[in-house]
Amino acid sequence: MFSSFLAASLLSLALSAGAFPEYRSLAGLSAAESTPGAQPPPPAINDTSSKLVFDEAHPWEPLRPGDIRGPCPGLNTLASHGYLDRSGVVTPGEIITAVQEGFNMGWDLAAFVTYAAFIVDGNHLTNLMSIGAKTPETGPDARTRYYWRFEHSRRIRGNFLFNETLFDQLSQAAIDFGSNGTLDVTSAAVHRHNRILDSIARNPNFTFVTPRYLTAYAETTFPLAMFVSNQTSDSSMTLGLDDARSFFQKHKYPDNFFRRNGSYGLTEVGVLGAEVFELFPNIFPGNNEGVGNYVLDPEDPGFNGDGLCYAYYKQTNFTLSLYPDPTDDLRTALQQNLASFYSLLGDPTCEEVFPFGQ
Ligand code: HEM
Ligand SMILES: *[C@@H]1O[C@H](CO)[C@@H](O)[C@H](O)[C@H]1NC(C)=O
Ligand SMILES: *[C@@H]1O[C@H](CO)[C@@H](O)[C@H](O)[C@H]1NC(C)=O
Ligand SMILES: *[C@@H]1O[C@H](CO)[C@@H](O)[C@H](O)[C@H]1NC(C)=O
Ligand SMILES: *[C@@H]1O[C@H](CO)[C@@H](O)[C@H](O)[C@H]1NC(C)=O
Ligand SMILES: *[C@@H]1O[C@H](CO)[C@@H](O)[C@H](O)[C@H]1NC(C)=O
Ligand SMILES: *[C@@H]1O[C@H](CO)[C@@H](O)[C@H](O)[C@H]1NC(C)=O
Ligand SMILES: *[C@@H]1O[C@H](CO)[C@@H](O)[C@H](O)[C@H]1NC(C)=O
Repeated sequence: MFSSFLAASLLSLALSAGAFPEYRSLAGLSAAESTPGAQPPPPAINDTSSKLVFDEAHPWEPLRPGDIRGPCPGLNTLASHGYLDRSGVVTPGEIITAVQEGFNMGWDLAAFVTYAAFIVDGNHLTNLMSIGAKTPETGPDARTRYYWRFEHSRRIRGNFLFNETLFDQLSQAAIDFGSNGTLDVTSAAVHRHNRILDSIARNPNFTFVTPRYLTAYAETTFPLAMFVSNQTSDSSMTLGLDDARSFFQKHKYPDNFFRRNGSYGLTEVGVLGAEVFELFPNIFPGNNEGVGNYVLDPEDPGFNGDGLCYAYYKQTNFTLSLYPDPTDDLRTALQQNLASFYSLLGDPTCEEVFPFGQ
């Protein structure tokens, strides 16, 4: 089912960058000195109605030295308004609550995505993760053996900065294809498609496989679904470019911003993600073997077949590769976090696996 795949898609959102931020001295007891271990996801919020979220309790504040922001405009904005700790070092539970409160992301989608990211990016002992570059503030890193592989497989430094060239391309898609110069489903899909074609044409190492394949389609829908103020089921999904820039560049809610009415969960991302995919339904998981030579991956189901389970196994395997031989509390925490992750698959069609024991 398409919706499950998009859900799975947001896994492995490796948040670590190649660079360490500047050293920041710790005043007093750091959160990274306590080791609560694995924690279960917090409960869903009950009230998912629209409400003012740029309120007096959540003022936007500029970055302080050492504050971390990353590739996700949603999490960046939540941190800059204090829905998340402004430092950018957070627990998975804090992310799950904040994305619900601040954007009305559905609990099922939020929890799944967050645990998927946390098991590879987070610190299982301190229960902390960074929303951007790797930092000592999350505690000592136990991922030793495959550290470089992990870093190399992910992002390059520059990606964390707002890129005016890319924003111009997004704007151009909105002007050429959007409703009255706004970002809508069509122009968002055009932009995504252009980015994929550009990568195929220029990046000899381009890989576009699960989970990134699925993530890309899900993320394309997020601005339409969650950056539009007071979105309701009968309002149009169009995002003005000034508002888009506010999130992407300033990490700031537009003035008087109301979160959407009703949550945006697995079901909703499945529906809208399918719309985006169907506009250019000929890109399947694969990777470049040299520029312009995009070779399909026959193993990767993408949106077809049992993609959710494929993603679960892939992510679990990746976690094991990062922690080949954990002991004691670390092993226990890995067991518990993987069990939480499996429980968040909803109604899985695959067996749970226990690479760290039961
Ligand atoms: C639930 C926890 C979330 C996690 C762990 C997460 C993580 C990420 C990561 C790692 C990326 C970068 C992907 C890449 O380029 O490799 C990303 C991109 C993105 N995220 Fe999130 N995200 C979350 C929630 C949200 C929410 C609630 C929103 C919107 C309200 C959002 C909007 C976006 C958008 C629009 C992008 C694409 C940015 C771009 O193309 O430059 N995310 N997210
Ligand atoms: C939601 O409501 C239920 C039932 O009233 C309650 O047990 C639960 O604690 C509430 N959740 C939150 C996050 O407040
Ligand atoms: C911004 O994106 C463009 C287009 O992909 C790229 O050529 C350029 O290097 C990027 N700039 C930075 C600073 O990353
Ligand atoms: C189109 O955008 C312009 C400028 O933002 C605005 O004045 C006009 O009302 C919009 N038209 C429609 C049909 O939304
Ligand atoms: C592609 O990967 C090779 C080998 O890891 C590396 O030397 C090269 O710089 C990469 N090229 C790009 C454009 O990332
Ligand atoms: C939000 O949308 C509803 C339904 O369209 C509308 O009645 C309400 O006035 C809007 N609220 C704001 C603050 O725009
Ligand atoms: C908000 O959503 C609820 C159900 O999710 C619905 O009953 C209500 O009519 C919606 N309000 C608006 C203004 O669309
Ligand atoms: C995960 O690892 C197992 C054992 O090595 C392997 O059989 C399986 O194909 C892997 N699954 C994925 C999706 O990578």
